[in-house]
Amino acid sequence: MASNPATNVAQIPATGRNVITIASGKGGVGKTWFAITLAHTLARAGRKVLLFDGDLGLANVDIQLGLLPERDLGSVITGKRTLEQCVTPVEETGFSVLAGRSGSGSLALLPPQRLTALRDQLLEMSGSYDHVLVDLGAGVDRTVQALTPSMGVALVVVTDEPTSLTDAYAFIKLTIADRPKADIRIVVNLADSTAHGRKTYETLTKACRSFLKFEPPLAGIIRRDSKVPDCIRHQTAMLTRHPNCDAAVDIEKLARPLLESR
Ligand SMILES: Nc1ncnc2c1ncn2[C@@H]1O[C@H](COP(=O)(O)OP(=O)(O)OP(=O)(O)O)[C@@H](O)[C@H]1O
Ligand SMILES: [Mg+2]
Repeated sequence: MASNPATNVAQIPATGRNVITIASGKGGVGKTWFAITLAHTLARAGRKVLLFDGDLGLANVDIQLGLLPERDLGSVITGKRTLEQCVTPVEETGFSVLAGRSGSGSLALLPPQRLTALRDQLLEMSGSYDHVLVDLGAGVDRTVQALTPSMGVALVVVTDEPTSLTDAYAFIKLTIADRPKADIRIVVNLADSTAHGRKTYETLTKACRSFLKFEPPLAGIIRRDSKVPDCIRHQTAMLTRHPNCDAAVDIEKLARPLLESR
């Protein structure tokens, strides 16, 4: 596999087939909430799941779950702890979290080699789990690219907003330039209806087909649901607070093929 000259990403070991990366390009489209709920769904199905907060400088996973982790990625970066030592098991949800540290400039501005080392440690750890989910930050910058593992599935979350579609397209373009065989799948979030979500998917794939000669499949459509902000406000996982709401049902459906492939 070639290295990415833009990010200076070195070759990585052939592990990490069970990694699910959650990206979007545009911020605020629901990546973190989706990553938490997908991790929870997989854990409820009996899988051993780790959720890595890859939004390094603006960590949100612990906030959305109302956690106060004693250890986070900050101490991995400073060399005080290993990645394994920073895993926080979340009893309520049945999955574990590797928390970032919000407002940590040192995490947000890590040099490429440190980012690559972090990603490689994560890939090594992936052997101890059934699924490792990586909640990426917004943007398509070098941090996001360097933390996008070359193996596994990349779920790109989009909404019907033109800025979301454009930024998702940019993420896909950059990813397949580096890894033409990347397993990229689309998640349409905040859909007013399933039919509307399908239209959003078709708009994005039309651009991918025309300009990239690449057609990412649809992983699933998640409906807009007022229970989502309610859970976030209460810092409680959706499957704990509203396990049968529309958005939870949509994520359970989306998770089925992921459960079958492993
Ligand atoms: N299906 C949905 N229905 C209703 N609201 C939603 C849905 N998905 C996400 N939201 C809302 O979108 C907002 C952003 O969610 P979240 O923080 O998970 O996004 P993000 O993509 O991780 O953002 P960032 O790029 O800043 O990390 C939240 O306030 C949440 O309530
Ligand atoms: Mg987020």
